Amino acid sequence: MDRVLEPELMEDEAQVQAYAAADFSQENQGFVDRFREYFPDFSEGHVLDLGCGPGDIPIRFARAVPGCRITGVDASAPMVRLAEETVRQAGLSSRIVFRRERFQELAGASVADAAISNSLVHHVPNPLQFWHKLRLAVKPGSPVLVMDLLRPESPEMAQAIVDRYTCGAPDILRRDFYNSLLSAFTEDEIGAQLAQMNLTRLLIDIIDDRHWVVGGIIY
Ligand SMILES: C[S@@+](CC[C@H](N)C(=O)[O-])C[C@H]1O[C@@H](n2cnc3c(N)ncnc32)[C@H](O)[C@@H]1O
Repeated sequence: MDRVLEPELMEDEAQVQAYAAADFSQENQGFVDRFREYFPDFSEGHVLDLGCGPGDIPIRFARAVPGCRITGVDASAPMVRLAEETVRQAGLSSRIVFRRERFQELAGASVADAAISNSLVHHVPNPLQFWHKLRLAVKPGSPVLVMDLLRPESPEMAQAIVDRYTCGAPDILRRDFYNSLLSAFTEDEIGAQLAQMNLTRLLIDIIDDRHWVVGGIIY
């Protein structure tokens, strides 16, 4: 099945509310735990979260790594508003800040000591821009961890995954999940992107029936 690109930004208020209300705790905590497992020595510094959404991962990351500060980047105004409020309520505004900006337009190079990103790549029309920015944004020797969905082989398989994991969820969330699966990349495509960007030191791991993870040190 070919990729069917979904809209880049999540700017619809109802869509943002549904996404923020959904329970991604297992997935998000698993992502943070994986970072800790891959990079046990990382304990301080500036972390970039590209496509940070409603801020749940920055909050979990800040709690897991008390010595870090985090900049979340998301170009959706409603998403950033919600993330700022959630972080304020969590009492972490002094350590987590947000930039409402497309990651492609982020200024500066070597600005971060680590970078993370979950579920952004499938939104991006040209994924090479993502890998380019990831490499540019971190200092040499920095850990990075990226996770996203795997594109199933057919629309029917995508629908089966939606039914398996979002049974009873609001229609808007189920629709977005389906569209995201169709817009995601295969393991081979991610491998080809890394090869093209000379990032083959980063390792790809398929962690379950619908996610890939890329992690390693950027030199
Ligand atoms: C599926 S959400 C993932 C949010 C969060 N990382 C999480 O795991 O819950 C993807 C987010 O990326 C944002 N996004 C998409 N393209 C972007 C871009 N070019 N620059 C910045 N943010 C972008 C969307 O607005 C959306 O909030």
